[in-house]
Amino acid sequence: MNTDTTPLPSHVRLVEVGPRDGLQNEKQPIPVADKVRLIEALAAAGVRHVEAGSFVSPKWVPQMAGSAEVFARIERRPGVVYSALTPNLKGLEAALEAGVQEVAVFAAASEAFSQKNINCSIAESLARFEPVMAAAQQQGVRVRGYISCVLGCPYDGEIDPARVASVARELDAMGCYEVSLGDTIGTGTPGKTRTLIDRVAREVPRERLAGHYHDTYGQALANVYASLLEGVAVFDASVAGLGGCPYAKGATGNVASEDVLYLLQGLGIETGIDLPALASAGQRISDLLGRPNGSRVARALLAARQ
Ligand code: HMG
Ligand code: MG
Repeated sequence: MNTDTTPLPSHVRLVEVGPRDGLQNEKQPIPVADKVRLIEALAAAGVRHVEAGSFVSPKWVPQMAGSAEVFARIERRPGVVYSALTPNLKGLEAALEAGVQEVAVFAAASEAFSQKNINCSIAESLARFEPVMAAAQQQGVRVRGYISCVLGCPYDGEIDPARVASVARELDAMGCYEVSLGDTIGTGTPGKTRTLIDRVAREVPRERLAGHYHDTYGQALANVYASLLEGVAVFDASVAGLGGCPYAKGATGNVASEDVLYLLQGLGIETGIDLPALASAGQRISDLLGRPNGSRVARALLAARQ
C-alpha cells in the first residue's frame, strides 16, 4: 500500500461508460437518435473518452445491437476518443467496419463470471483476444483491457488479488495500453481497493491502471478516492449513474460521473469537463428512461437551479 505522502494526481482522465455500460442493461429499446444525442452531449461537456457501444452478440446483449449505427451517426469531435467493446475477432471486424478507432477486450478474474459473461474460461478468453490484438494493432487501433469481478464475484465470492494481477499481467503483455479494474458488483471497500491496486501494480504500473467501480453497495466514490491515494488517475464512470450488468444480477450502475467530477473538483484535480453541462446530459437521459437521476451531485445541482 502507498503509505508515503505521494501527492494526488493533478489531472484525471474520466472514461464515460454511460452509453455502453449504462445502457446495455436497459430492457426497453432506446432509439439510436437518443444514444447519439447522449454521446454528443457528453463530448460537448468536455468528456475526452466516451465508450459509445459494443460489438457483442445481439442475442446476449440486445440493447447494443445498434452500435454500428450509433458510430455511423455520431458527429466526432477532434480530440475525443469514441471506443467500443469487442469480445472476439468478429466483434473487432464489425467495429472496424463501423470506423471505431479504439476498442476494449474484457476478461474476468473469476471463472464463473467469465463463463456467464462471455461463455468461455479465462484462459480461452485470453487466447481469443490474441487475434483481436493482432488485427487491431495492424489497423493502428488501440486496445484497452477490462477485468471484471476484481473485488468480488456474484458466483465465486471473494477474489484473490493475485488472480487479478495475473490476468492484468496477461492483458498488459498482449498489448493493452491500459487495464481497467472492474468492481462489477460493487462489493469492494476502500481498504480492499488499495490492497488490490498495490498487488496489481507489481505487474502493471499504476499509470496504466484504471478504476471501474459499480456503486451497488454505495462504496464506489470512496473506492475512487482510495485509488487516487494509490496513484491511479483514470476512472470509468457513468453519467447519472446509469447501468448495471446483464450477467451480475442486482448489480447497479457505475459510480456517477457527476459525483466523481465533484469529488475531483473539490480536490483541485483537473478533468476538463464542465459539471453543469454533464449534469444536464445526465438528466436528459434519465428523463428519457423515465427514472430518477442516479447522481446525487446532479440532483443537488439541478434542484439548486430551479
Ligand atoms: P457464444 O455464443 O459462445 O459465441 O458467445 P459463438 O462464437 O459460439 O457464436 C454464437 C453466435 O453469436 C453466432 O451467431 C455468432 O455469429 C454470433 P449464429 O450463427 O448463432 O447466428 N457472434 C456475434 N455476433 C455479433 N457480434 C459478435 C459475435 N460473436 C459471435 N462479436 C460471445 C460468445 C462472446 C459472443 C457472447 O458471450 C457475448 O457477446 N458476450 C457479451 C457479453 C457482454 O457484452 N457483457 C457485458 C459487457 S462486459 C461488462 O459489462 C463488464 C465491464 O463493464 C467491467 C465490469 O464492470 O466488470 C466491462
Ligand atoms: Mg461495468
